[in-house]
Formats: sequence, structure tokens, C-alpha cells
Amino acid sequence: MSDKSTSAAPQAVWQASVLTLFPEAFPGVLGASIIGGAQKSGIWALETVDIRDFSVNRHRTVDSPPSGGGPGMVLKPDVAAKAIDSVASSSESFEGRPLIYLTPRGKPLTQKRVRELASGPGLIVFCGRFEGLDQRVIESRQMEEISIGDYVLAGGEVAAQVLIEACVRLLPGVLGDAQSASEESFEDGLLEYPLYTKPREFEDRAIPEVLLSGDHKKIATWRRQKSEEITKARRPDLWQAYENGDDHERD
Ligand code: ADE
Repeated sequence: MSDKSTSAAPQAVWQASVLTLFPEAFPGVLGASIIGGAQKSGIWALETVDIRDFSVNRHRTVDSPPSGGGPGMVLKPDVAAKAIDSVASSSESFEGRPLIYLTPRGKPLTQKRVRELASGPGLIVFCGRFEGLDQRVIESRQMEEISIGDYVLAGGEVAAQVLIEACVRLLPGVLGDAQSASEESFEDGLLEYPLYTKPREFEDRAIPEVLLSGDHKKIATWRRQKSEEITKARRPDLWQAYENGDDHERD
């Protein structure tokens, strides 16, 4: 069924608010292709808030050295709190939107969390820079700390785009083919099987015969087998969970 045809109540716009020291980094990749198109057609909306606008002095300072010493600078809690509270007071839909702080020390992002966020009203994302954000504002504003992987970026802006893109592509009406979101990696706890398309021969490599057989049952079996092989080889952690029959939608 097409999402565009007969929806009873109009879907509320999924709202992303991004707090950043680099608003010029947005929309970035979020302005391109299907995600950008979905924004233009009103499925989701993006607001950026410049954290520096909430500096409390005329030098527009936002950071200071870590208490106790050490390298780098720390984002000041008073500035961060003012920026966060400005979203709370200016937005009618702050209610129900989680406040997420992107940091390599956060809980790893999963497709399960992405699905949950996509099914809610949207999110508010705080992009870290420098060494990090003062712990007191993380606690006082009950920020959910999320990491997009075990590596360190220069700041949270790219991570915010990753998170928002992962959510927006799941919103109703964004992906053309309803199937393409359900058969891919992670949706059933396995990595995706290999894909082929024309021509039949490419640099002496043929498309596996089974895929040209027209036998849908055989094709499904072959794909499942490939998914299992790939998952076993590349992601023993996912394979273990799959074998144990763990809920693949675990946190
Ligand atoms: N900021 C810097 N590195 C990050 C990561 N891996 N995930 C989320 N935010 C980050």
C-alpha cells in the first residue's frame, strides 16, 4: 500500500533540533537525495541552534580548561544549559523528544534505538566539541549519551547527521519501496546478502546462476545462507546472538 494515498490523520512533522558550534555544517548530507527531498516535502524538519549564541560574555567564550588539569578544553555547563533550554522554551514539540549528546563514550547506536527514535516525535541533538561537555549539564538535563562507533571524530556534527539520516529514512513516505527497509542488514539480526545486477558477466565474473533461475524459494534459501556466512565471518558477536535466538532488537 502506498503511504501517500489515504492517510487518515496528517502525520506530525518529525523534528530534529541540532545544537552545535558549527551550524554551517548543516544540512550537509541531510540536504541531499531522499533525505533532503523528504525535508522539502515536509516529512521532517531541521533546526540548528548555534551554541555560541548562548555564551555569557562578550568574547563569546564557550569553553574553559578542565578542572583538575589535563589537555584541551571543556564546554561550559552554563552556556550548554542555556542553549538547551532555548530549544525547550521555543519548541512546542520538545515534549517527548529525547535530548541526545553525541560522544564516543556513549552507548553504541543500534538499529533498534534508531527505530524507536524514528517512531517518536523527533530528537534534540547536542554536538560535542573539544574534550567534552561538563558532566553536570549532562546530568541536570538528563542527556542520553550515544556513540556512533568505536573511533573518535573531531566533533558530534557528522555523528548527528548519521543519527538523523538513519532515523529519517525510516519515516513513512521516505523510502519508495517498503521492502528495502525490511530486508537489509540488521533488520533480522543478520548482515545483508550480496547483490547483483546486469550485465550477466562483468570482468569474467558471472551472476550466481541461482539468482537467474526464477525459483524464488531457492533464491531465498541462497540469500539466507549467504547472510549467515557473511555474518559468521564478519560479526561473530551478531552471529552468536542470532544463534542463541537472542532478541536481535537488543539495546
Ligand atoms: N563525537 C566524537 N566521536 C564520536 C563518536 N564516535 N560518536 C558520537 N559522537 C562522537
